[in-house]
Amino acid sequence: MEKYLGKKKVAIFISGRGSNLKSLIKYFKKKNSLIKIVLVISNNPDAKGLKYADRSKIINYGFKSIRKSIFENQSLKLLKKYNVDILCLAGFMKILSGNFIKKFSKPILNIHPSLLPKYKGLNTHARAIKNKDSFSGATIHVVTQKLDSGKIILQKKVKILKKDNPKTLEKKVLKIEHEIYPRAIKNFLSNL
Ligand code: GAR
Repeated sequence: MEKYLGKKKVAIFISGRGSNLKSLIKYFKKKNSLIKIVLVISNNPDAKGLKYADRSKIINYGFKSIRKSIFENQSLKLLKKYNVDILCLAGFMKILSGNFIKKFSKPILNIHPSLLPKYKGLNTHARAIKNKDSFSGATIHVVTQKLDSGKIILQKKVKILKKDNPKTLEKKVLKIEHEIYPRAIKNFLSNL
């Protein structure tokens, strides 16, 4: 029997380091996982994360800095070619256009390093510390045309300590990101 029968085909978009991609690959390799990662795309050919895809023999593309519309069209073609059911953004630092979201017409999930709706956009850790928040965390949400605003699937908090700086907080949040992204995908798929 086909090993991946019944699993949802997932594509992952990354821009750099790829530690979330690594954690998703780890989940995908589990016998009882609900997904098969069939495609990884980066808007940066030097993204370190592409190496994780290579190592796991996952088809991957790193596009040189091309116009956004060209990047999106090329990606749409690949998503179609590989019959992708769900797109997961994992440290993908470009904003997808409404046109792309509409044309793909399947779920897109994103991981964001804050307790949304707080701190949409960039520099989330520095902003949480500057505001003397007691907690930060990470959120997995559905991608819509409005930045970092779609339905929240899963969130987890971490305590911000007095001694924390943006670097130490990033490290703590990243640890929970790796834990909750696979869980969020499972939750999302179970509720489809
Ligand atoms: C992660 O912290 C992710 O939440 C964040 O970028 C980092 C990527 O790390 N994403 C965003 O800020 C999206 N707006 P990684 O490449 O090691 O997974």
